[in-house]
Amino acid sequence: MSARPIRRIAINTGGGDAPGLNAVIRAVVLAATQRGWEVYGIRKGYGGLLGDDVIVPLDRQAVRGITHLGGTILGTTNRGNPFEWAVEGPDGKLVAIDRSDEVVEAFRRHGLDALIAVGGDGSLQIACRLMQKGVPVVGVPKTIDNDLAVTEVTFGFQTAVQTATEALDKLHSTAESHERVFLVEVMGRHTGWIALEAGISGTCDVILIPEIPYDIDRVCEKIQARYAEGRRFAIVVVAEGARPRNGQVTLVEEAQPGHAARYGGIAERLAREIYEKTGRETRSLVLGHLQRGGSPIAYDRYIGLRFGGAAVRLVEAGAFGQMVALQNGEVVAVPIESAVAEIKRVDPNGDAVRTAREMGVSFGD
Ligand code: F6P
Repeated sequence: MSARPIRRIAINTGGGDAPGLNAVIRAVVLAATQRGWEVYGIRKGYGGLLGDDVIVPLDRQAVRGITHLGGTILGTTNRGNPFEWAVEGPDGKLVAIDRSDEVVEAFRRHGLDALIAVGGDGSLQIACRLMQKGVPVVGVPKTIDNDLAVTEVTFGFQTAVQTATEALDKLHSTAESHERVFLVEVMGRHTGWIALEAGISGTCDVILIPEIPYDIDRVCEKIQARYAEGRRFAIVVVAEGARPRNGQVTLVEEAQPGHAARYGGIAERLAREIYEKTGRETRSLVLGHLQRGGSPIAYDRYIGLRFGGAAVRLVEAGAFGQMVALQNGEVVAVPIESAVAEIKRVDPNGDAVRTAREMGVSFGD
């Protein structure tokens, strides 16, 4: 694509928030204003273009002192897909309508030359579809789940792993004092990246991830073996998307028009099963949105800032439809489509899983 003069760009953040989003916003605003461009923030995903919120001018002052802050100064939503906008139907039930033409029209009305869309797979799919409708988009990958193909890592992930690991560390002393089994449910949707990395770093006894369906009897065997050895407590980390062999994932809410299914409840379900099978006192804990909150660790700020700067360079080059990604430690450009074509899953035969097994960790298989 040939380069075109840019005067005014927009940035939005979509989907679940992730520590490091504000670092991206800061880098985009500083790099763009340095080029003499104006920057606007579309609030709440695409809400600012749909009358559901506003668009705000972002200058150097607006992004002062935000790099270390969690969340996003622009707000976000994972219920704001303009192609599947949920509204109440005549019978009171939610139905999805397509409002994407309104987004395109509002984008033009505001005189915007490009959009930097920061999001996970859902938001990047929306970005791809808007691109097909003529909106020049550059993508920035974000998610604590780390499940985006084509990029080695997404910012926010390492902060989530850090939070989960610290929780696992703290649970050790109380689990040991009470001789209890603890189940800790972590996020990750269809993938087990957070469970795997926090589970290994937090020296869990059992790690359950969607990529390796578990057998409850194998999980109980591992727990019983620990007690038999004299280690009279056990810590199990379970990804929210983990499921038993030949079984289903545990959801708190099925998918609805305009938003995806919500995972949750696997730890409590397993705690009951483990207690029934072993008679051991068992407790469960859901770390939930703690994993998305708080200040990004240095690594996530660093990646977020680099992604933001690189996204502006892509806009300058007219490389629309591209997304920034980390490959071999370098920020590169890849087609957004390639990032949303498939999910990046844990390799059950990869070195991390093998190392965990060599440390005596059970994956319940
Ligand atoms: O994709 C990020 C994520 O935190 C998932 O790990 C989790 O399943 C989901 O978002 C939770 O979404 P919500 O904020 O709607 O509860």
